Amino acid sequence: MTGRGFDIMKLPIGIQSFEKIRTDDYYYIDKTYFVKKLVEEGSYYFLSRPRRFGKSLFLDTLRQAFLAKKELFKGLYLYDKWEWDKKYPVIYLDFGEGMIESSDHLKKVIESNLRKISLYYQIELTEELLERRGIELIEKLYKKYQQKVVVLIDEYDKPILDCIEDQRRSETN
Ligand SMILES: Nc1ncnc2c1ncn2[C@@H]1O[C@H](COP(=O)(O)OP(=O)(O)OP(=O)(O)O)[C@@H](O)[C@H]1O
Ligand SMILES: [Mg+2]
Repeated sequence: MTGRGFDIMKLPIGIQSFEKIRTDDYYYIDKTYFVKKLVEEGSYYFLSRPRRFGKSLFLDTLRQAFLAKKELFKGLYLYDKWEWDKKYPVIYLDFGEGMIESSDHLKKVIESNLRKISLYYQIELTEELLERRGIELIEKLYKKYQQKVVVLIDEYDKPILDCIEDQRRSETN
């Protein structure tokens, strides 16, 4: 308690991890109603919002809900409105980190991400083509866990923006 009679909570400046916000007692505006609404209303979403609007944190909130991390949602809207005994395999890709130099570089980044996820879920990928590997991962995850696979992608446009003003790179790649 403070002298003014209320708790001052920490603001989660720059924090995009739902787990960190919830376990380290940061101030959190409950957006979990939208997790439920989204899942009830459709299967595919493109979330386009201005900068610093909470997209990454919301994506991570979706991830933790689909991973059934019930304890993180205590006291929030979703807590008694979600099937916590259902755990979904999640493919989470974030293109926000680092600078993508070319389409080859982008392919390597995607390849490395798919490899990490397949190792985590102990899935063997055998397809040669990258275009097929993503689908192979989804199909094998579905088969292994008998659950729909959740695919979450953050900063999908960052690799495009990295090259868009470089005339030479956007012409050759
Ligand atoms: N529901 C919330 N409650 C409290 N703080 C929040 C909430 N949602 C987002 N924030 C805070 O707002 C800031 C911006 O959030 P976030 O990084 O998720 O936005 P963004 O839309 O992904 O931004 P960018 O466009 O830069 O990628 C972060 O500090 C985050 O912790
Ligand atoms: Mg973001």
